[in-house]
Amino acid sequence: MEQLERYREQLQVCDEKILEGLLERNRVVEEIMACKEENGMKILQPDQEARQDAWLEGALEGCRHQEEVRAVFREIHRGSKKIQARRLFSYNIVLIGFMGAGKSTISEYLNTLFAMDVVEMDQLIAQREGMSIADIFEVYGEEYFRNLETALLVELQDRKNVVISCGGGTPLRECNVREMKKNGRVVLLCADPETILERVKDSHERPLIENNKNVEYIGQLMEKRREKYEAAADIVIHTDGKSALDICEEMVGKLLELDRREGKR
Ligand code: S3P
Repeated sequence: MEQLERYREQLQVCDEKILEGLLERNRVVEEIMACKEENGMKILQPDQEARQDAWLEGALEGCRHQEEVRAVFREIHRGSKKIQARRLFSYNIVLIGFMGAGKSTISEYLNTLFAMDVVEMDQLIAQREGMSIADIFEVYGEEYFRNLETALLVELQDRKNVVISCGGGTPLRECNVREMKKNGRVVLLCADPETILERVKDSHERPLIENNKNVEYIGQLMEKRREKYEAAADIVIHTDGKSALDICEEMVGKLLELDRREGKR
């Protein structure tokens, strides 16, 4: 079957071209990152992704196996995002802040931008315990829940380049702050009590404010926690009136600046 052998050789040539193209592409991705950083340009440019998608759709028109090709490009783009994330952050990003400050929203957005894995602490704890946070508080008490948070933070030190979205109360324990800093930069997200109320008013998953959903109570609890939040934070970001993109851009800028100040870049 000489014909079959020839086809196999052709396939091998195709794979070599793909491999060469991919390696070249990854090198260019790194060059782009370096270029943006050296010139103080915006790191995040999601409109560029939209342009790439539009190009692909045009180029695929009339082609066979469109779905398969699209899936490959999706993976290629995810790979580029991961390369960018690893170049930017050699640590975990730990998001802290009051309930409704935007930790989950920003985590999701970081996942979209950089394909970083996200650990939602509350969600993971609830899943492992097989009950909601509200039920854990009710059945076992707050102390039990806080111990689970501490144990999870220790566990996450083995991971790298992960976004850790903490519960609002996680940084109130000093030992938690110590644990989160061992392998992470701590980002405090802030918002006015009015904004917080707007964001949490329809949820029933927050036992600490369930019966006190008003600006005064939220403002007071926030004030009580402020000192601890600020002490834990490596950087602070005010989220009122800003888009997720604005917030992430500010976060990346501040994190890079911190590295520079510490001589890590
Ligand atoms: C809490 C915040 C909640 C959850 C629990 C306690 C707090 O998380 O961990 O209800 O003490 O602020 P979110 O900040 O994600 O709502």
